[in-house]
Amino acid sequence: MTLLVTGGAGFIGSNFVLDWLGGSDEPVVNLDALTYAGNRQNLASLDGDPRHIFVQGDICDRDLIDRLLLAHRPRAIVHFAAESHVDRSIHGPGAFMQTNVNGTFTLLEAARGYWGALDGDEKAAFRFHHVSTDEVYGSLGPTDAPFTETHAYEPNSPYSASKAASDHLVRAWHHTYGLPVVTTNCSNNYGPFHFPEKLIPLIIVNALAGKPLPVYGDGQQVRDWLYVKDHCSAIREVLARGRLGETYNIGGWNEKPNIDIVTTVCALLDEFQPDAAGPYARLISYVKDRPGHDRRYAIDARKIERELGWRPAETFDTGIRKTVRWYLDNQPWVHNVLTGGYRDWVTQQYGAEQGT
Ligand code: NAD
Ligand code: DAU
Repeated sequence: MTLLVTGGAGFIGSNFVLDWLGGSDEPVVNLDALTYAGNRQNLASLDGDPRHIFVQGDICDRDLIDRLLLAHRPRAIVHFAAESHVDRSIHGPGAFMQTNVNGTFTLLEAARGYWGALDGDEKAAFRFHHVSTDEVYGSLGPTDAPFTETHAYEPNSPYSASKAASDHLVRAWHHTYGLPVVTTNCSNNYGPFHFPEKLIPLIIVNALAGKPLPVYGDGQQVRDWLYVKDHCSAIREVLARGRLGETYNIGGWNEKPNIDIVTTVCALLDEFQPDAAGPYARLISYVKDRPGHDRRYAIDARKIERELGWRPAETFDTGIRKTVRWYLDNQPWVHNVLTGGYRDWVTQQYGAEQGT
């Protein structure tokens, strides 16, 4: 029994791998291209652990995926690898189409070939778990009901359009070829190892550096926030017991306007590490809005609760306290990310040799 995880050196993927190997001895083959968002330091606690096999490589590389599937015979693929940052997708959508669309297509085709050659119990047990986002559903008005799994797909950014395309491919590979897939659409995650281009870690690191805290537009855009370890537990449940061909929305029942997120983070920093210059909220700076900025996301997570009994363990209050604490306690990680040192760290730690 083995899992093939893609994108397992990124924010959610690395939390998933750590979580998985914290509770199971089933090995993980971790395929990650180590783009700017991939950080092997996230997985440093697994150094020397034979249950974790790290492979630096691209999900668009069909030969590599075929070789990995044949060599390791995974019973499931959990597919996190993606370009994930909306602002980057606005400045340069090409990489998003390549990884999120072509990469998912390549992985699906490789999975189809591998699964098609399995038989008996192995074939019946195989799963392709596609990790996706609530952004595929577009934007809600202030009084609209939260997204259910049957909400229309209305992606508004190059990122969400590329994720929507990948969801459609996964659906079609199930419908046409019978590939045993499950898809999860999750809201905004936060927690350890979150790259500080995204709102919460950016606010933490900028505040500690005494830099402006950029709030787009009027700061009243609403997101639903989920502690990353709750996302990991939801994926475990869906992988184990989700119905084939189904999608499951995952959310934290924590809708908050951005400005509330920023002031909450500032208040926690005031409590944990007060700044002699004054409250961190003095650094808040309203800046130009993101083009096409979605106003509100909200998740109706009743299906996964009803069918699989999953609910988040953390409230926003408990999760955000842990998160701010984690960043304060892991300043070397932050420093390596901010200086780009995390990229040299791979060579320092493992030498020039990478991969299989
Ligand atoms: P991330 O950007 O932190 O990590 C992405 C990882 O994928 C990185 O390690 C990167 O090196 C790797 N990668 C990128 N292109 C690759 C390629 N061509 N081949 C192999 N590896 C490649 O992203 P994240 O925030 O951890 O998100 C993981 C997944 O979860 C994505 O599919 C994303 O769409 C989805 N998601 C994210 C959130 C969120 O709030 N972050 C919420 C819902 C869904
Ligand atoms: O909803 C799930 C999605 O959440 C995931 O699919 C994406 O991969 C993930 O990046 C995230 O997308 P968002 O665009 O919602 O996350 P981000 O952290 O970039 O922004 C959160 C909100 O904060 C959003 O309304 C934009 C705003 N923002 C963001 C940044 C980086 C600011 O106001 N200032 C900022 O500097």
